[in-house]
Amino acid sequence: MRIRNLLLVASLLLALPTFAQDNVITVQADLPGAAVQPTMYGIFFEDINFAADGGLYAELIKNRSFEFTPDPLTGWQAFGKVSIKDDGPFENNPHYARLESMGHPEWWTGLVNEGFFGIGLKKDHEYRFSLYARVPFDSAQTLRVQLIDPYTKEEKQEFVSKDIKVKSKDWKKYTITLKSPRTIDKAQLRIFLCEYNGKSGKGTCDVEHVSLFPTDTWNGHENGMRKDLAQALYDMHPGVFRFPGGCIVEGVTLDNRYSWKNSVGPVENRPINKNRWESTFTYRYYPDYFQSYGLGFFEFFQLSEEIGSEPLPILNVGMACQYQNKKTDKKAYAPATEEGLKEFIDDCLDLIEFANGDTSTKWGKLRADMGHPKPFNMKFLGIGNEQWDSLYFERLDIISKAVRKAHPEIKLVGTSGPDAEGKQFDHGWMAMKELQVDLVDEHFYRPVSWFKREWERYDEYDRKGPKVFAGEYACHDKGKKYNHAGASIYEAAFMTGLERNADVVSMATYAPLFAHVDGWQWRPDAIWFDNLHVVKTASYYVQQMFARNKGTNVLPIANSEFPDKGEDGVLASAVYDKETGEYIVKVVNTCDSTREVSIRLEGLKNLSRVNTITLDCSDYNAENTIEDPNVVVPDESSVAADGNIINAAIRAKNFVVFKARK
Ligand code: AHR
Repeated sequence: MRIRNLLLVASLLLALPTFAQDNVITVQADLPGAAVQPTMYGIFFEDINFAADGGLYAELIKNRSFEFTPDPLTGWQAFGKVSIKDDGPFENNPHYARLESMGHPEWWTGLVNEGFFGIGLKKDHEYRFSLYARVPFDSAQTLRVQLIDPYTKEEKQEFVSKDIKVKSKDWKKYTITLKSPRTIDKAQLRIFLCEYNGKSGKGTCDVEHVSLFPTDTWNGHENGMRKDLAQALYDMHPGVFRFPGGCIVEGVTLDNRYSWKNSVGPVENRPINKNRWESTFTYRYYPDYFQSYGLGFFEFFQLSEEIGSEPLPILNVGMACQYQNKKTDKKAYAPATEEGLKEFIDDCLDLIEFANGDTSTKWGKLRADMGHPKPFNMKFLGIGNEQWDSLYFERLDIISKAVRKAHPEIKLVGTSGPDAEGKQFDHGWMAMKELQVDLVDEHFYRPVSWFKREWERYDEYDRKGPKVFAGEYACHDKGKKYNHAGASIYEAAFMTGLERNADVVSMATYAPLFAHVDGWQWRPDAIWFDNLHVVKTASYYVQQMFARNKGTNVLPIANSEFPDKGEDGVLASAVYDKETGEYIVKVVNTCDSTREVSIRLEGLKNLSRVNTITLDCSDYNAENTIEDPNVVVPDESSVAADGNIINAAIRAKNFVVFKARK
C-alpha cells in the first residue's frame, strides 16, 4: 500500500476521533473543481444479442416483409399453397406472400410466424396487428388472424382469433387490435384464408409487411420501443446515448455497413440488412439475424430526447471491419480521396441536417414528416469505430475537414482503435491529436487484473489534447455466468478514476447494453431480457449509481492508502451537485474483507446523518437472472455522521455512495 498526501493524512489523523481506520479519505467539499460533463455515464447501443429486432424494438414478427435471404420464408411456416412474389408495393422491400386456395374446403393455406424465440404476450394487454393486403383476382377474401400456443396440450391452439375482410384489388393497410387473455412467452401468429363458415377460403390473397406490436409501447409510439426495456434505460439516467454501434457501423463489407439513410422514412420501405453479428461467432450462429431498421435514426434521436441523453451517432468512415478484410481489399475501403469518400461525407452532412436542419431542408423536412419538426439539437458525431492505422487516419482527415467546414459547431469523436494500450493505441492517439478531434473513443473489454492495474489510467493524461470517451468497456471474467457481481465491483473502482479525472474524461459508456437470453453472442452485458422480462445486472446498477449521482463538479479527494497497481484496496471519488446541493462521495472496497473508512468532508459541519446507496457484490459469482432478478440490487439507507466526519465499515466488494447535504 502506498501512502498518498502524507502531510494531509498526518494532520487528519491528529484531528480524527478514535477509530481504527484502514483508509482516511479527505474530500475538499469547499473546493468544487472541474465540471463533470453532462454526457458522463451513458449507454452504448448496438444491435448485437438481438438488442434491436427481438429486443428494444417492440415489433413481434420476424421477417415481416419476407425479405430475409436466402429464404424469404425464414421465420415463417407456410402451409397449403403459398408462394413468394417480388413486385410488391414497397420498392425497397419488394417481396410479399401470395396465399392461394387449395380448392378444397378442408385444405388450408396460410402462414405461421415464430416471432423472435417466440412471441411474448401479456394477459389483458392489447396488440396491434396490421398488414398490407390485396385480392389480385377475386372478390373479397377473409383472412383469419390467430394468436396460438404451439406447445399447448389443450385441444385448441388458438386463444385469440379475428377476421379481416380484404376487399380491394389494390394494396391497402388493414389494422385490428387483439387482446391477449393470457401471459405467454412463446406464442406464435397464424394467418390463413378462411370463410365465415369456418371452411377454407376459395380465392387468392396477397400479404405484405405483417406486423404485431403491443399498443402499450414506450411513450405510446406506434413504431415504438418495448416499454420495460426503454424504462430500464430511462431509469439509468444516461448522459449520452451512443448508436448504432460498434462493429455494426462498419459492416463485414461496406455494403453491409449500417446505412442511416436506410433507417429513416416509412418503416415499410426501409430495406433490411443482414446483421454482421449473425456470422461472427459460429458457436452462437443465428442465420436468421437481420436488421429491419425499424429502430432507426429517427427512433434513436427521439428516444435519446425522451430518456434525457445526448445523442451520439457513430457513422462509417469509408471502411468496413479491418479484422475481417485485407488491407488492400477495394470492396472494404472506399478510396481515400474527397471524391471516393463523397458518399460518407454526405452521410455525415445529411445526418446533421436530418437532426438539426430547418424543416425547409430535404432532411429536416423528412424529420418533420416523421413527427419531429423541432430539431434534435445533435452536438456530437463519431466517425469510424475501432479503426486503426493510416487507412483510418487518411479517411478521417478528409471526412472531418469537410464536416468541420460545414459544421464547426459539431464536436467530432475519433477512435484510438481496438487496443487499450500499446503501439497501435499510442499511434491512434497521436493521430487523433494531429487531426484535432474533440474526443477519442477508447475501448477496453478486459479482465479483473487489467482493471486492478488501471485505476490511475487518466491521472497522467494530457490535459490539453482531445478529451476521452471511454466508449466501450466492461470487466470480463472467466466462467459460464452471464455476469459476475464481483467483476462489476472492479468497474465501479475503475469509474472512480473516470470521475476524479472529469477534466479529461467527458463520456463513458459500458458495453454492450442488451442481450436476449435465448439469442446472445456476447457477454457480459448490462441488461438481459427474454420475451416478457427484463433483468438489470450488477454492472447496470454500477452505471446507474454513477449516472444518478454524477454531480456537477469534482471535489478534490485524498486517500490515505491507495492500492498499488494490481492490488485490491479502497478507491474513492467525490463530486458536488450544485443543482441539488449534495456532496456525493463514492467509495469502493475491492478487498475480500471489510475496510474501516473515515471520510472527512472539509468545509462542512453539523452533519449528523448522510444517505447511502450500497451495492453488495461480495458473493463474487452472484448474478441476477430471469428467475431471480433481485439478487444484487442497490440498497438505500443512511449512516451517522459526526460534524464533518463519516466513519463507516465498507464490507468486502461493496460499492457505497454517500450523499450529504450542508
Ligand atoms: O460491443 C461489442 C463489440 O466490441 C463492438 O461492436 C465493437 O466495437 C467491439 O469490438
